[in-house]
Amino acid sequence: MSERIYIFDTTLRDGEQSPGASMNAAEKLRLATQLEKLGVDVLEAGFPAASDGDFEAVANIARKLKTTEVAGLARASKDDIDRAWGAVQHAAKPRIHTFIATSDIHMEYKLRMSREQVIENAVEAVRYAKSFTDNVEFSAEDGSRSDRDFLCKVFGAAIEAGATVVNLPDTVGYAIPGEFSEMVRYVMDHTPDMHQAILSVHCHNDLGLATANTLAAIQEGAKQAEVTINGIGERAGNTSLEEVIMALHTRPNYLPMSTNITTEHIHPTSRLVSMITGILVQPNKAIVGANAFAHEAGIHQDGVLKNPMTYEIMKPETVGLNTNKLVLGKRSGRHALRSHLKDMGYDLSDEELNIVFKKFKELADKKKHVMDEDLEAVVNEGILRSSDIFRLEYQHVSSGTTVLPMASVKLSINGREVRGAGYGNGPIDASFNAIAKLTGTESELLRFSVSALTGGTDAQGEVTVRLRENGMIALGKGADPDIITASAKAYVNGLNRLEYLKTNPVQAAQVL
Ligand code: KIV
Ligand code: ZN
Repeated sequence: MSERIYIFDTTLRDGEQSPGASMNAAEKLRLATQLEKLGVDVLEAGFPAASDGDFEAVANIARKLKTTEVAGLARASKDDIDRAWGAVQHAAKPRIHTFIATSDIHMEYKLRMSREQVIENAVEAVRYAKSFTDNVEFSAEDGSRSDRDFLCKVFGAAIEAGATVVNLPDTVGYAIPGEFSEMVRYVMDHTPDMHQAILSVHCHNDLGLATANTLAAIQEGAKQAEVTINGIGERAGNTSLEEVIMALHTRPNYLPMSTNITTEHIHPTSRLVSMITGILVQPNKAIVGANAFAHEAGIHQDGVLKNPMTYEIMKPETVGLNTNKLVLGKRSGRHALRSHLKDMGYDLSDEELNIVFKKFKELADKKKHVMDEDLEAVVNEGILRSSDIFRLEYQHVSSGTTVLPMASVKLSINGREVRGAGYGNGPIDASFNAIAKLTGTESELLRFSVSALTGGTDAQGEVTVRLRENGMIALGKGADPDIITASAKAYVNGLNRLEYLKTNPVQAAQVL
Protein backbone atom coordinates (compact mmCIF):
# COMPACT_ATOMS: atom_id res chain seq x y z
CA MET A 1 0.00 0.00 0.00
CA SER A 2 1.44 3.36 -0.97
CA GLU A 3 1.20 6.19 1.48
CA ARG A 4 -0.84 9.26 0.58
CA ILE A 5 1.03 12.56 0.26
CA TYR A 6 -1.00 15.78 0.26
CA ILE A 7 -0.06 18.43 -2.26
CA PHE A 8 -0.37 22.01 -1.05
CA ASP A 9 0.05 24.37 -3.96
CA THR A 10 1.21 27.91 -3.24
CA THR A 11 1.71 29.16 -6.81
CA LEU A 12 -0.87 31.87 -6.18
CA ARG A 13 0.74 33.03 -2.93
CA ASP A 14 4.48 32.28 -2.66
CA GLY A 15 4.65 31.90 -6.46
CA GLU A 16 3.16 35.32 -6.94
CA GLN A 17 6.02 36.69 -4.84
CA SER A 18 8.38 36.03 -7.77
CA PRO A 19 9.62 39.42 -8.92
CA GLY A 20 7.22 40.82 -11.50
CA ALA A 21 4.74 37.95 -11.30
CA SER A 22 1.61 39.75 -10.15
CA MET A 23 -1.63 38.33 -11.57
CA ASN A 24 -5.02 39.99 -11.83
CA ALA A 25 -8.15 38.52 -10.22
CA ALA A 26 -9.42 36.85 -13.42
CA GLU A 27 -6.02 35.27 -14.08
CA LYS A 28 -5.87 33.95 -10.52
CA LEU A 29 -9.32 32.44 -10.82
CA ARG A 30 -8.42 30.75 -14.10
CA LEU A 31 -5.25 29.33 -12.60
CA ALA A 32 -7.09 28.14 -9.50
CA THR A 33 -9.57 26.27 -11.70
CA GLN A 34 -6.70 24.61 -13.53
CA LEU A 35 -4.97 23.66 -10.26
CA GLU A 36 -8.18 22.02 -9.06
CA LYS A 37 -8.32 20.08 -12.33
CA LEU A 38 -4.69 19.07 -11.81
CA GLY A 39 -5.73 17.59 -8.46
CA VAL A 40 -3.92 19.60 -5.80
CA ASP A 41 -5.33 18.90 -2.33
CA VAL A 42 -4.89 22.39 -0.93
CA LEU A 43 -4.55 25.63 -2.82
CA GLU A 44 -3.08 28.60 -1.00
CA ALA A 45 -4.94 31.34 -2.82
CA GLY A 46 -3.16 34.37 -1.37
CA PHE A 47 -2.44 36.54 1.60
CA PRO A 48 -5.75 38.35 2.23
CA ALA A 49 -4.31 40.92 4.64
CA ALA A 50 -1.78 42.05 2.04
CA SER A 51 -4.20 44.16 -0.01
CA ASP A 52 -7.87 44.49 -0.90
CA GLY A 53 -7.01 43.02 -4.30
CA ASP A 54 -5.55 39.91 -2.68
CA PHE A 55 -8.55 39.59 -0.36
CA GLU A 56 -10.99 39.72 -3.28
CA ALA A 57 -8.97 37.27 -5.34
CA VAL A 58 -8.88 34.74 -2.47
CA ALA A 59 -12.61 35.21 -1.83
CA ASN A 60 -13.44 34.63 -5.53
CA ILE A 61 -11.39 31.46 -5.58
CA ALA A 62 -12.95 30.25 -2.33
CA ARG A 63 -16.43 30.65 -3.82
CA LYS A 64 -15.48 28.91 -7.05
CA LEU A 65 -13.57 25.75 -6.10
CA LYS A 66 -15.58 22.66 -5.34
CA THR A 67 -13.23 19.93 -4.16
CA THR A 68 -9.91 21.58 -3.34
CA GLU A 69 -9.23 23.06 0.08
CA VAL A 70 -8.65 26.81 -0.13
CA ALA A 71 -6.12 28.29 2.29
CA GLY A 72 -5.52 31.93 3.16
CA LEU A 73 -2.23 32.99 4.74
CA ALA A 74 -2.17 35.10 7.92
CA ARG A 75 0.56 36.32 10.21
CA ALA A 76 -0.02 35.31 13.83
CA SER A 77 -2.27 38.25 14.52
CA LYS A 78 -6.02 38.61 15.01
CA ASP A 79 -6.33 41.18 12.22
CA ASP A 80 -4.61 38.96 9.68
CA ILE A 81 -6.63 35.93 10.77
CA ASP A 82 -9.89 37.90 10.51
CA ARG A 83 -8.94 38.88 6.94
CA ALA A 84 -7.94 35.34 6.04
CA TRP A 85 -11.18 33.91 7.40
CA GLY A 86 -13.21 36.67 5.74
CA ALA A 87 -11.74 35.59 2.41
CA VAL A 88 -11.83 31.79 2.70
CA GLN A 89 -15.03 31.32 4.71
CA HIS A 90 -17.19 30.59 1.66
CA ALA A 91 -14.95 27.79 0.43
CA ALA A 92 -16.29 24.23 0.40
CA LYS A 93 -13.19 23.37 2.45
CA PRO A 94 -11.57 26.44 4.00
CA ARG A 95 -8.19 26.47 5.76
CA ILE A 96 -6.45 29.20 7.74
CA HIS A 97 -2.68 29.11 7.50
CA THR A 98 -1.01 31.15 10.20
CA PHE A 99 2.71 31.57 10.81
CA ILE A 100 5.38 33.13 12.97
CA ALA A 101 9.17 32.91 12.79
CA THR A 102 10.97 30.58 15.21
CA SER A 103 14.68 30.99 14.41
CA ASP A 104 16.80 32.98 16.84
CA ILE A 105 17.85 35.42 14.14
CA HIS A 106 14.26 36.16 13.08
CA MET A 107 12.97 36.36 16.66
CA GLU A 108 15.75 38.69 17.77
CA TYR A 109 16.06 41.02 14.79
CA LYS A 110 12.75 40.86 12.95
CA LEU A 111 10.15 40.14 15.60
CA ARG A 112 12.08 41.44 18.63
CA MET A 113 10.35 38.77 20.68
CA SER A 114 11.55 36.19 23.19
CA ARG A 115 10.98 32.46 22.70
CA GLU A 116 8.19 32.52 25.28
CA GLN A 117 6.45 35.38 23.51
CA VAL A 118 6.65 33.54 20.20
CA ILE A 119 5.08 30.42 21.69
CA GLU A 120 2.36 32.49 23.32
CA ASN A 121 1.68 34.28 20.04
CA ALA A 122 1.57 31.05 18.06
CA VAL A 123 -0.85 29.44 20.51
CA GLU A 124 -3.11 32.50 20.57
CA ALA A 125 -3.13 32.65 16.76
CA VAL A 126 -3.97 28.97 16.34
CA ARG A 127 -6.71 29.15 19.00
CA TYR A 128 -8.18 32.22 17.36
CA ALA A 129 -8.09 30.62 13.89
CA LYS A 130 -9.63 27.51 15.39
CA SER A 131 -12.61 29.56 16.56
CA PHE A 132 -13.48 29.93 12.86
CA THR A 133 -12.56 26.55 11.41
CA ASP A 134 -11.23 23.15 12.42
CA ASN A 135 -8.79 23.26 9.54
CA VAL A 136 -5.80 25.24 10.80
CA GLU A 137 -2.21 25.05 9.61
CA PHE A 138 0.62 26.52 11.61
CA SER A 139 4.02 27.35 10.05
CA ALA A 140 7.27 28.01 11.88
CA GLU A 141 8.91 30.48 9.53
CA ASP A 142 12.67 29.87 9.11
CA GLY A 143 12.01 26.52 10.79
CA SER A 144 15.07 24.85 9.27
CA ARG A 145 17.37 27.35 11.02
CA SER A 146 15.51 27.11 14.34
CA ASP A 147 16.69 25.35 17.46
CA ARG A 148 15.28 21.82 17.14
CA ASP A 149 13.98 21.46 20.66
CA PHE A 150 12.41 24.88 20.56
CA LEU A 151 10.79 24.03 17.22
CA CYS A 152 9.32 20.84 18.68
CA LYS A 153 8.03 22.84 21.64
CA VAL A 154 6.32 25.38 19.34
CA PHE A 155 4.82 22.65 17.17
CA GLY A 156 3.61 20.76 20.25
CA ALA A 157 1.97 23.91 21.62
CA ALA A 158 0.38 24.64 18.22
CA ILE A 159 -1.01 21.10 18.04
CA GLU A 160 -2.36 21.37 21.56
CA ALA A 161 -4.04 24.64 20.56
CA GLY A 162 -5.71 22.83 17.64
CA ALA A 163 -3.40 22.97 14.61
CA THR A 164 -4.15 20.06 12.28
CA VAL A 165 -1.08 20.65 10.12
CA VAL A 166 2.31 21.91 11.30
CA ASN A 167 4.62 23.11 8.59
CA LEU A 168 8.42 23.16 8.66
CA PRO A 169 9.67 25.68 6.11
CA ASP A 170 13.20 25.99 4.80
CA THR A 171 12.42 29.66 4.27
CA VAL A 172 15.82 30.73 3.01
CA GLY A 173 16.68 27.55 1.11
CA TYR A 174 19.57 26.76 3.45
CA ALA A 175 19.02 23.08 4.26
CA ILE A 176 20.95 20.13 2.82
CA PRO A 177 18.93 16.93 2.18
CA GLY A 178 20.64 14.68 4.75
CA GLU A 179 20.42 17.38 7.39
CA PHE A 180 16.79 18.19 6.54
CA SER A 181 15.69 14.58 6.74
CA GLU A 182 17.37 14.27 10.15
CA MET A 183 15.53 17.36 11.28
CA VAL A 184 12.21 16.00 10.05
CA ARG A 185 12.85 12.72 11.87
CA TYR A 186 13.75 14.64 15.03
CA VAL A 187 10.57 16.70 14.81
CA MET A 188 8.48 13.58 14.18
CA ASP A 189 10.02 11.87 17.20
CA HIS A 190 10.15 14.77 19.66
CA THR A 191 7.08 16.89 19.01
CA PRO A 192 4.43 16.22 21.66
CA ASP A 193 1.28 14.71 20.12
CA MET A 194 2.78 14.80 16.64
CA HIS A 195 0.49 11.91 15.68
CA GLN A 196 -2.51 14.24 16.04
CA ALA A 197 -1.36 16.44 13.18
CA ILE A 198 0.20 16.18 9.74
CA LEU A 199 3.77 17.33 9.27
CA SER A 200 4.26 19.49 6.18
CA VAL A 201 7.39 20.85 4.54
CA HIS A 202 7.87 24.01 2.50
CA CYS A 203 11.24 24.43 0.81
CA HIS A 204 12.90 27.23 -1.11
CA ASN A 205 15.40 26.68 -3.86
CA ASP A 206 18.28 29.04 -3.07
CA LEU A 207 20.82 26.20 -3.27
CA GLY A 208 18.89 24.30 -5.93
CA LEU A 209 17.88 21.71 -3.31
CA ALA A 210 14.18 22.40 -2.77
CA THR A 211 12.95 19.22 -4.47
CA ALA A 212 15.69 17.08 -2.90
CA ASN A 213 14.87 18.42 0.55
CA THR A 214 11.14 17.89 0.05
CA LEU A 215 11.65 14.29 -1.06
CA ALA A 216 14.04 13.65 1.83
CA ALA A 217 11.39 14.96 4.22
CA ILE A 218 8.66 12.83 2.66
CA GLN A 219 10.83 9.76 3.15
CA GLU A 220 11.04 10.57 6.84
CA GLY A 221 7.29 10.90 7.31
CA ALA A 222 6.26 14.38 6.16
CA LYS A 223 2.81 13.99 4.65
CA GLN A 224 2.24 17.35 3.01
CA ALA A 225 4.50 18.98 0.42
CA GLU A 226 4.16 22.69 -0.27
CA VAL A 227 5.02 23.40 -3.89
CA THR A 228 4.51 25.71 -6.86
CA ILE A 229 4.11 25.09 -10.58
CA ASN A 230 7.38 25.59 -12.45
CA GLY A 231 8.98 26.15 -9.04
CA ILE A 232 8.20 29.86 -9.18
CA GLY A 233 8.43 31.81 -5.95
CA GLU A 234 10.36 34.22 -3.79
CA ARG A 235 14.03 34.65 -4.96
CA ALA A 236 15.17 31.30 -6.51
CA GLY A 237 11.67 29.91 -6.09
CA ASN A 238 9.93 27.10 -4.24
CA THR A 239 9.87 23.34 -4.61
CA SER A 240 8.46 22.56 -8.01
CA LEU A 241 5.24 20.53 -8.03
CA GLU A 242 6.07 18.70 -11.23
CA GLU A 243 9.48 17.54 -9.96
CA VAL A 244 8.09 16.08 -6.74
CA ILE A 245 5.16 14.44 -8.50
CA MET A 246 7.24 12.89 -11.26
CA ALA A 247 9.88 11.66 -8.80
CA LEU A 248 7.14 9.84 -6.89
CA HIS A 249 5.58 8.61 -10.12
CA THR A 250 8.84 7.43 -11.70
CA ARG A 251 10.41 5.79 -8.63
CA PRO A 252 7.55 4.02 -6.80
CA ASN A 253 9.82 1.23 -5.62
CA TYR A 254 12.00 3.76 -3.79
CA LEU A 255 9.27 6.27 -2.98
CA PRO A 256 6.07 4.26 -2.40
CA MET A 257 3.74 7.24 -2.10
CA SER A 258 0.71 8.40 -4.02
CA THR A 259 -0.97 11.76 -4.64
CA ASN A 260 -4.19 12.99 -6.19
CA ILE A 261 -2.40 14.66 -9.13
CA THR A 262 -3.37 13.78 -12.70
CA THR A 263 0.06 13.91 -14.29
CA GLU A 264 -1.33 14.52 -17.79
CA HIS A 265 -2.40 18.00 -16.67
CA ILE A 266 1.13 18.99 -15.62
CA HIS A 267 2.31 20.44 -18.90
CA PRO A 268 -0.83 22.46 -19.70
CA THR A 269 -0.74 23.86 -16.15
CA SER A 270 2.92 24.78 -16.50
CA ARG A 271 2.20 26.58 -19.77
CA LEU A 272 -0.70 28.45 -18.24
CA VAL A 273 1.40 29.63 -15.30
CA SER A 274 4.11 30.83 -17.65
CA MET A 275 1.62 32.62 -19.87
CA ILE A 276 -0.22 34.28 -17.03
CA THR A 277 2.80 35.32 -14.96
CA GLY A 278 5.09 36.09 -17.88
CA ILE A 279 7.83 33.98 -16.26
CA LEU A 280 9.50 31.84 -18.90
CA VAL A 281 10.41 28.26 -18.07
CA GLN A 282 14.13 27.66 -18.55
CA PRO A 283 14.62 25.24 -21.49
CA ASN A 284 16.50 22.67 -19.39
CA LYS A 285 14.00 22.75 -16.50
CA ALA A 286 13.17 19.21 -15.38
CA ILE A 287 9.79 17.85 -16.56
CA VAL A 288 8.40 21.04 -18.14
CA GLY A 289 11.37 22.69 -19.90
CA ALA A 290 11.33 22.75 -23.71
CA ASN A 291 14.34 20.42 -23.77
CA ALA A 292 13.19 18.05 -21.02
CA PHE A 293 12.30 15.35 -23.55
CA ALA A 294 14.54 16.43 -26.46
CA HIS A 295 17.33 14.09 -27.48
CA GLU A 296 20.13 15.86 -29.29
CA ALA A 297 22.93 13.31 -29.47
CA GLY A 298 22.67 10.86 -32.38
CA ILE A 299 23.43 7.87 -30.16
CA HIS A 300 20.54 8.84 -27.87
CA GLN A 301 18.15 9.37 -30.77
CA ASP A 302 19.06 5.98 -32.16
CA GLY A 303 18.45 4.33 -28.79
CA VAL A 304 15.13 6.10 -28.25
CA LEU A 305 13.91 5.03 -31.69
CA LYS A 306 14.75 1.41 -30.88
CA ASN A 307 13.25 1.55 -27.40
CA PRO A 308 12.24 4.86 -25.74
CA MET A 309 13.16 3.52 -22.31
CA THR A 310 16.87 3.45 -23.28
CA TYR A 311 17.12 7.15 -22.54
CA GLU A 312 13.64 8.19 -21.41
CA ILE A 313 12.70 7.55 -17.81
CA MET A 314 9.28 9.12 -18.30
CA LYS A 315 6.97 9.27 -21.27
CA PRO A 316 6.24 12.79 -22.54
CA GLU A 317 2.52 11.88 -22.76
CA THR A 318 2.51 11.15 -19.02
CA VAL A 319 3.07 14.84 -18.28
CA GLY A 320 0.69 15.99 -21.00
CA LEU A 321 3.25 16.69 -23.69
CA ASN A 322 2.70 15.69 -27.32
CA THR A 323 -0.99 15.45 -26.66
CA ASN A 324 -1.69 18.67 -28.46
CA LYS A 325 -3.83 18.00 -31.43
CA LEU A 326 -5.13 20.21 -34.14
CA VAL A 327 -8.03 21.54 -32.19
CA LEU A 328 -9.99 23.80 -34.44
CA GLY A 329 -9.70 25.28 -37.90
CA LYS A 330 -11.04 28.09 -39.97
CA ARG A 331 -14.40 26.44 -40.45
CA SER A 332 -15.01 25.46 -36.85
CA GLY A 333 -18.14 26.97 -35.39
CA ARG A 334 -19.03 28.66 -32.15
CA HIS A 335 -20.37 25.45 -30.61
CA ALA A 336 -17.15 23.50 -31.25
CA LEU A 337 -15.12 26.36 -29.84
CA ARG A 338 -17.26 26.57 -26.70
CA SER A 339 -17.05 22.86 -26.05
CA HIS A 340 -13.29 22.72 -26.64
CA LEU A 341 -12.72 25.68 -24.34
CA LYS A 342 -14.84 23.97 -21.71
CA ASP A 343 -12.58 20.92 -21.92
CA MET A 344 -9.63 23.23 -21.41
CA GLY A 345 -11.25 24.64 -18.25
CA TYR A 346 -12.85 27.84 -19.58
CA ASP A 347 -16.54 28.20 -18.92
CA LEU A 348 -17.32 31.33 -20.88
CA SER A 349 -20.45 33.46 -20.88
CA ASP A 350 -22.12 34.17 -24.27
CA GLU A 351 -20.60 37.61 -24.32
CA GLU A 352 -17.11 36.28 -23.57
CA LEU A 353 -17.51 33.57 -26.17
CA ASN A 354 -18.35 36.21 -28.79
CA ILE A 355 -15.09 38.04 -28.03
CA VAL A 356 -13.03 34.86 -28.16
CA PHE A 357 -14.78 33.58 -31.29
CA LYS A 358 -14.00 36.79 -33.15
CA LYS A 359 -10.34 36.65 -32.15
CA PHE A 360 -10.17 32.93 -32.93
CA LYS A 361 -11.50 33.55 -36.46
CA GLU A 362 -8.96 36.33 -37.02
CA LEU A 363 -6.22 33.97 -35.90
CA ALA A 364 -7.48 31.03 -37.95
CA ASP A 365 -7.31 33.28 -41.03
CA LYS A 366 -3.60 33.76 -40.45
CA LYS A 367 -2.67 30.40 -38.95
CA LYS A 368 -3.74 27.04 -40.33
CA HIS A 369 -3.52 24.95 -37.17
CA VAL A 370 -4.99 26.52 -34.06
CA MET A 371 -3.63 24.67 -31.04
CA ASP A 372 -4.43 24.72 -27.33
CA GLU A 373 -1.56 27.16 -26.71
CA ASP A 374 -3.04 29.56 -29.27
CA LEU A 375 -6.49 29.39 -27.71
CA GLU A 376 -4.99 29.86 -24.26
CA ALA A 377 -3.34 33.09 -25.49
CA VAL A 378 -6.54 34.27 -27.17
CA VAL A 379 -8.61 33.77 -24.01
CA ASN A 380 -5.89 35.24 -21.85
CA GLU A 381 -5.72 38.43 -23.87
CA GLY A 382 -9.42 38.67 -24.72
CA ILE A 383 -11.03 37.74 -21.41
CA LEU A 384 -8.66 37.42 -18.48
CA ARG A 385 -7.14 40.81 -19.14
CA SER A 386 -10.47 42.54 -19.74
CA SER A 387 -10.13 44.59 -16.54
CA ASP A 388 -6.88 46.10 -17.82
CA ILE A 389 -6.54 49.87 -17.84
CA PHE A 390 -4.62 49.98 -21.13
CA ARG A 391 -5.69 48.01 -24.18
CA LEU A 392 -4.09 47.94 -27.60
CA GLU A 393 -6.78 48.56 -30.22
CA TYR A 394 -4.54 48.64 -33.30
CA GLN A 395 -1.13 49.63 -34.50
CA HIS A 396 0.35 50.34 -37.86
CA VAL A 397 4.10 50.26 -38.28
CA SER A 398 6.32 51.29 -41.17
CA SER A 399 9.98 50.44 -41.28
CA GLY A 400 12.65 49.35 -43.72
CA THR A 401 16.20 50.03 -44.79
CA THR A 402 15.56 53.54 -46.03
CA VAL A 403 12.84 54.94 -43.76
CA LEU A 404 12.75 56.16 -40.22
CA PRO A 405 10.71 53.49 -38.37
CA MET A 406 7.35 54.91 -37.31
CA ALA A 407 4.40 53.44 -35.41
CA SER A 408 0.92 54.83 -35.16
CA VAL A 409 -1.05 53.33 -32.31
CA LYS A 410 -4.62 53.40 -31.02
CA LEU A 411 -5.09 52.50 -27.36
CA SER A 412 -8.04 52.48 -25.07
CA ILE A 413 -7.25 53.87 -21.63
CA ASN A 414 -9.97 53.08 -19.11
CA GLY A 415 -12.36 52.78 -22.04
CA ARG A 416 -11.35 56.11 -23.65
CA GLU A 417 -9.75 55.87 -27.09
CA VAL A 418 -6.51 57.71 -27.78
CA ARG A 419 -4.27 57.79 -30.85
CA GLY A 420 -0.67 58.77 -31.34
CA ALA A 421 2.55 58.08 -33.19
CA GLY A 422 6.16 57.45 -32.26
CA TYR A 423 9.52 57.04 -33.94
CA GLY A 424 12.38 54.78 -33.03
CA ASN A 425 15.51 53.04 -34.21
CA GLY A 426 13.38 50.04 -35.23
CA PRO A 427 9.67 49.20 -35.47
CA ILE A 428 9.45 47.82 -31.93
CA ASP A 429 11.23 50.82 -30.46
CA ALA A 430 8.86 53.10 -32.41
CA SER A 431 5.81 51.17 -31.16
CA PHE A 432 7.00 51.25 -27.52
CA ASN A 433 7.73 54.98 -27.78
CA ALA A 434 4.24 55.66 -29.12
CA ILE A 435 2.64 53.58 -26.34
CA ALA A 436 4.76 55.21 -23.62
CA LYS A 437 3.77 58.66 -24.86
CA LEU A 438 0.06 57.81 -24.95
CA THR A 439 0.03 56.21 -21.51
CA GLY A 440 2.26 58.83 -19.91
CA THR A 441 4.45 56.08 -18.45
CA GLU A 442 8.21 56.13 -18.02
CA SER A 443 9.14 52.53 -17.54
CA GLU A 444 12.55 51.16 -18.37
CA LEU A 445 12.72 48.08 -20.59
CA LEU A 446 14.99 45.63 -18.75
CA ARG A 447 14.50 42.56 -20.90
CA PHE A 448 12.89 41.61 -24.16
CA SER A 449 12.61 38.10 -25.56
CA VAL A 450 10.71 36.39 -28.38
CA SER A 451 9.87 32.75 -28.82
CA ALA A 452 7.39 30.74 -30.87
CA LEU A 453 4.23 29.62 -29.11
CA THR A 454 3.92 26.47 -31.23
CA GLY A 455 5.88 24.89 -34.08
CA GLY A 456 5.55 25.94 -37.73
CA THR A 457 6.54 29.06 -39.61
CA ASP A 458 3.06 30.51 -39.13
CA ALA A 459 3.35 30.12 -35.33
CA GLN A 460 2.39 32.98 -33.08
CA GLY A 461 5.37 34.86 -31.72
CA GLU A 462 5.32 35.11 -27.95
CA VAL A 463 7.06 38.15 -26.54
CA THR A 464 8.05 38.69 -22.92
CA VAL A 465 9.15 42.03 -21.55
CA ARG A 466 10.44 43.00 -18.13
CA LEU A 467 9.71 46.60 -17.15
CA ARG A 468 10.80 48.77 -14.24
CA GLU A 469 9.16 51.97 -13.05
CA ASN A 470 9.72 53.69 -9.71
CA GLY A 471 11.55 50.63 -8.36
CA MET A 472 8.69 48.26 -9.22
CA ILE A 473 9.21 45.44 -11.67
CA ALA A 474 6.58 43.83 -13.86
CA LEU A 475 6.64 41.22 -16.58
CA GLY A 476 4.43 41.43 -19.65
CA LYS A 477 3.51 38.85 -22.25
CA GLY A 478 1.85 39.05 -25.65
CA ALA A 479 1.25 36.64 -28.52
CA ASP A 480 0.45 37.28 -32.16
CA PRO A 481 1.48 35.90 -35.56
CA ASP A 482 3.05 39.35 -36.12
CA ILE A 483 5.90 39.77 -33.65
CA ILE A 484 5.73 43.55 -33.70
CA THR A 485 2.10 43.35 -32.61
CA ALA A 486 3.04 40.65 -30.06
CA SER A 487 5.70 43.05 -28.73
CA ALA A 488 3.19 45.88 -28.39
CA LYS A 489 0.76 43.55 -26.58
CA ALA A 490 3.50 42.41 -24.21
CA TYR A 491 4.52 46.00 -23.50
CA VAL A 492 0.92 47.03 -22.80
CA ASN A 493 0.49 43.97 -20.56
CA GLY A 494 3.63 44.93 -18.60
CA LEU A 495 2.32 48.49 -18.18
CA ASN A 496 -0.99 47.13 -16.88
CA ARG A 497 0.86 45.02 -14.32
CA LEU A 498 2.81 48.07 -13.19
CA GLU A 499 -0.50 49.92 -12.77
CA TYR A 500 -1.80 46.98 -10.73
CA LEU A 501 1.27 47.13 -8.48
CA LYS A 502 0.70 50.85 -7.94
CA THR A 503 -2.77 50.12 -6.53
CA ASN A 504 -1.67 47.00 -4.62
CA PRO A 505 1.47 48.38 -2.98
CA VAL A 506 1.87 45.55 -0.48
CA GLN A 507 2.14 43.10 -3.30
CA ALA A 508 5.00 45.15 -4.69
CA ALA A 509 6.92 44.71 -1.43
CA GLN A 510 5.61 41.56 0.22
CA VAL A 511 6.24 41.20 3.91
CA LEU A 512 7.70 37.69 3.78
O1 KIV B 1 8.93 30.42 3.23
C1 KIV B 1 8.18 30.51 4.21
O2 KIV B 1 8.60 30.40 5.37
C2 KIV B 1 6.78 30.78 3.97
C3 KIV B 1 5.85 30.56 5.14
C4 KIV B 1 4.81 31.60 5.23
C5 KIV B 1 5.25 29.19 5.07
O3 KIV B 1 6.38 31.05 2.87
ZN1 ZN C 1 7.89 30.39 1.35
